[in-house]
Amino acid sequence: MTQPGYELLARGGVPVVLAPMAGITNRAFRRLAREQARAATGGAATGIYVTEMITSRALVERNDETLRMIQTDPDESPRSVQLYGVDPATVAAAVHLLVDEDRADHIDLNFGCPVPKVTRKGGGSALPWKRGLFRAIVRSAVTTADETARAHGREPVPVTVKMRVGVDDEHITYLEAGRAAAEEGAAWVALHGRTASQLYGGTADWTTIARLVEELEPYGVPVLGNGDIWTHRHARRMVEQTGAAGVVVGRGCLGRPWLFGQLAASFTGRDIPPDPGLREVAAVMHHHAELLCDVLGDVKGPRDFRKHIAWYLKGFAVRRDLRQGLALADSLDEIDDYLAQLELDQPWPGEVSEGPRGRTQPGRRVALPDGWLDDPDDLEGFLDDISAAELSVSGG
Ligand SMILES: Cc1cc2nc3c(=O)[nH]c(=O)nc-3n(C[C@H](O)[C@H](O)[C@H](O)COP(=O)(O)O)c2cc1C
Repeated sequence: MTQPGYELLARGGVPVVLAPMAGITNRAFRRLAREQARAATGGAATGIYVTEMITSRALVERNDETLRMIQTDPDESPRSVQLYGVDPATVAAAVHLLVDEDRADHIDLNFGCPVPKVTRKGGGSALPWKRGLFRAIVRSAVTTADETARAHGREPVPVTVKMRVGVDDEHITYLEAGRAAAEEGAAWVALHGRTASQLYGGTADWTTIARLVEELEPYGVPVLGNGDIWTHRHARRMVEQTGAAGVVVGRGCLGRPWLFGQLAASFTGRDIPPDPGLREVAAVMHHHAELLCDVLGDVKGPRDFRKHIAWYLKGFAVRRDLRQGLALADSLDEIDDYLAQLELDQPWPGEVSEGPRGRTQPGRRVALPDGWLDDPDDLEGFLDDISAAELSVSGG
């Protein structure tokens, strides 16, 4: 039997994964990106598109908004849901719900979130440091996914892990955590080549990805590389330099959903669609806003679209009043009015628009519970912190 991580990658047709991004990778964005990959490959390849992170406790409590966030399109395959959790039992309950109700084909576990309100309680990227807890979460998720699928006579639902290099340079966790994930049955391990203390600053260290590839080779578990893929050329370079089985692309696709078309073409040896001029970009913006209205409604849809505008227009000459108007537009009609006023005959601006977008915060000391780093095996004093780590969380 093929290793489940490779099998999952094969379902996407190309080893390209849309990184889970809170506030971004909702059903509308995933559809937009998927359409680009399909169009560029004549329907031959799509890739894998992961939901925003879903808090396992909110899912278990059947929070309305959370149930909406795990909805997928009928043609979305595989259906990939990312869970965030700190307690093995709650994560298991969330996995059970997803598999029992046939709501996912792939479950990714988030151990990379560097947001202070999460790490301060020992969650997200602080968690792998407590190696027993990390292992227990992966084990409970994998076992529950297997058992629940088997009870229904369905195909196994692979569980994957996404993590960072460590807490900071003095507290590196990725090799030990990677081995633990492989031993507990994770189908792949995706590594963002930064520590939590680096947040989104500097550049991702791809040598850590190469090192993890080597470390997990004996287990046959694929490693996916993540961090600073801004163009299809970066993706190919990452695979060549690290030996990663695939790439996970986050900020590079903000305001650039066609990157998935270029990636799918590149990984299947097809002609790479050229970067679009402003006329094509405006058409994509309209379509994105339209999809957001379908998914979130006519009030929330246009508001949600606002955060994407500067990313789409980066590098193009656009009058300030039009940028501002778009950023305040309340309806699809209003968005279309402004788009029609752009000077549409502008070619792609080139490298100026290819650099970092989205989160770019430089590093800082990681907020952690007092004494968290003293002993990787001591959990006793931290149980209250950990159980609070799941409340009101979003983002990675
Ligand atoms: C706006 C935003 C939201 C994010 N939300 C999540 C999340 O929900 N889950 C997660 O695992 N990572 C999250 N991340 C991290 C990304 O998945 C990715 O690991 C990181 O951005 C590095 O990859 P990149 O350089 O390709 O952007 C988020 C990143 C950004 C910019």
